Amino acid sequence: MKKVWWKRKWSYFLGLLGIFLQLFLLINECAATRRINEKNIPLDLQTYPPVKFIRLNKHVLVDNGLFSITFSVPDGMVVNIKYNGIDNLLENKNKENNRGYWDIVWNKAEKQGNIFDKLEGTKFEVIFQDENQVELSFTRILKTLNSSSLSMNIDKRFIILRGSSGFYSYAIFERLEGWPDIDVYQGRMAFKLNEKLFSYMAISDERQRIMPTAQDRAMGRQLDYKEAVLLTGPSTSFLKGEVDDKYQYSVENKDNKVHGWISPSPKTGFWMITPSSEFQAGGPVKQDLTSHTGPITLSMFFSTHYAGEIIGLRFRNGEPWKKVFGPIFIYLNSVPNEEDILTLWTDAKEQMLIETEKWPYEFPLSQDFVGADQRGIVCGRLLVNDSYMSKTLITPNSTFIGLAAPGDVGSWQIENKGYQFWTQTNNEGYFFINNIIPGNYSLYAWVPGFIGDYKYKDYISIIPGSRIRLQTLVYYPPRNGPTLWEIGIPDRTAEEFFIPNPQPKLQNQLCIAHYEEKFRQYGLWDRYTEIYPNNDLIYIVGSSNYQTDWFFAHVNKYIYKDNGDKTYIPTTWQIVFDLQEVKDFSNYTLQLALASSNEAELQIRINDQNPEHAPHFTTGSIGKDNAIARHGIHGLYRMYSIDIPSDLLTIGSNTMFLKQSRGSSSWSGLMYDYIRLEGPLKNE
Ligand SMILES: *[C@@H]1O[C@H](CO)[C@@H](O)[C@H](O)[C@H]1NC(C)=O
Ligand SMILES: *[C@@H]1O[C@H](CO)[C@@H](O)[C@H](O)[C@H]1NC(C)=O
Repeated sequence: MKKVWWKRKWSYFLGLLGIFLQLFLLINECAATRRINEKNIPLDLQTYPPVKFIRLNKHVLVDNGLFSITFSVPDGMVVNIKYNGIDNLLENKNKENNRGYWDIVWNKAEKQGNIFDKLEGTKFEVIFQDENQVELSFTRILKTLNSSSLSMNIDKRFIILRGSSGFYSYAIFERLEGWPDIDVYQGRMAFKLNEKLFSYMAISDERQRIMPTAQDRAMGRQLDYKEAVLLTGPSTSFLKGEVDDKYQYSVENKDNKVHGWISPSPKTGFWMITPSSEFQAGGPVKQDLTSHTGPITLSMFFSTHYAGEIIGLRFRNGEPWKKVFGPIFIYLNSVPNEEDILTLWTDAKEQMLIETEKWPYEFPLSQDFVGADQRGIVCGRLLVNDSYMSKTLITPNSTFIGLAAPGDVGSWQIENKGYQFWTQTNNEGYFFINNIIPGNYSLYAWVPGFIGDYKYKDYISIIPGSRIRLQTLVYYPPRNGPTLWEIGIPDRTAEEFFIPNPQPKLQNQLCIAHYEEKFRQYGLWDRYTEIYPNNDLIYIVGSSNYQTDWFFAHVNKYIYKDNGDKTYIPTTWQIVFDLQEVKDFSNYTLQLALASSNEAELQIRINDQNPEHAPHFTTGSIGKDNAIARHGIHGLYRMYSIDIPSDLLTIGSNTMFLKQSRGSSSWSGLMYDYIRLEGPLKNE
């Protein structure tokens, strides 16, 4: 049959062949078209309108069909964002330079006070413009050195992409060799949103709600800490009697990836997305502001918050410096009126994942932004050797490990001029740090559950394309002998200790809803005096429990002077412990880890409470991290290993006196992370 078929239908077969051939060519052509499109515009992007760039009189406008953004020229202030039928997402009442802007706080070296600079550009340039992408630059190049103006070259960039509901901003700050000594304390981007629209703030799944207005704050009563206000007559009645304080909305760098505001009508979101922490100062647990009443949304690149001036950028001896901050993504979203406004938050979190996946971005055009192919990788494994806990190497989980500028052990927490790259190890102790910008680094780590800081012995030099695999690293945490007793968990925070309820009249419901962050309530420092009205805290090893009997902060106590004024006096805490035996002529060790200190001094006396006697140990004056006043549960970490000669100890009951000796302020004090008494080495 077939043969017949072939013979008979020969011409038909030729015809079919022709059709196949044509189809083949057509498919090929399609593929070719697609290849061209992939190079230029992905097909799905073509469904979006092209990006338009328009010059106006004193402004420029970029419109990608989803939203439009207007900048003042040449200053480079964001003056208008039009989206979802709203004329301006930013507050029109504000001056043009007070809506969306970059700014810096600085001063001449060793001078008190702050100089604010809104980094007004003097020159505007279109870096790139086609139907898919616009990149704008507003620069201010220093022409003459004079000590009263900020000696820094500024290049503020904005990128608008086709089909992207939002815009990117980054900035390059540069100082040339030989420029004057200055201190720079803060660098950020700020947006002041339309007050009538944006009423709901979201920082995390737990921390979000209807917020007071700027007007509510203005009419409220300022509390002792000047940024905190008691809302006496807010427009939203359920906020009445609550405290509002921007520091209650702080977040650690590692968790500060998306936050912002929602307008309930029309249902619109404005989000600050930070796709990478590499350009943030102070490492993964540095805390900073996010969004707060205003409505205001910030991107904090560096600041003294929760660290003190020690984290300021000190420029001395004319050292040159350049750093790229960002890009960050300002994301706009909206839903139809019948949908729940919280879908805006869920969608913003999804967008944050999309942005972090895309990091490092391909589209920024500044030569100073280092692309993915120019970056490097470091990987390895970190184990712990603590022979008093385990005879074999311990495999800790979730070790924080990262690269930062070369420095001393632990220096990353105040490092600010370079980039930092952090990750956490997996449950087998392995780590993989990618996207590292070329440079010279130290490798630092700390291990939750263990005291102290790790630093790798060698410098690590990254060049484009580096793939460095380190041998197994071993961290030896401080340890001089067996544990006799311990208080707390070595995790660099005071979270595990007793955190009181706030005064009923000084609450913020936002911190109640999220019970684990009760420490963010206002005024907890004064709760100490109320809980310990007569005697100071006494902790009895063996019967006390640090979760209920160790107040989270070693604060001062308030008393009233004869004239009725409130004043604060130092407090002395006691740790009472029994020793069955004391080994003569040996040293015991007190491992003391502090989670925060602010204008404090910790004096330690052993079995001698006479404050006239010199203490056995003192930290001296330490700290300005202000974590007590700003409701952080930690500031900067400090660790002391203190020898305690056996002749200070006795068989039976012993008492260790911990005196925070700097009185007078409610916010002077310490937070402990962890305390351990170690016996002398066995068989010494
Ligand atoms: C890295 O920095 C350290 C400390 O500044 C320096 O001693 C070392 O030579 C540097 N290494 C490289 C490769 O630049
Ligand atoms: C105890 O430590 C001190 C230093 O803090 C040292 O001078 C002393 O020799 C040590 N004593 C013993 C017995 O090791």
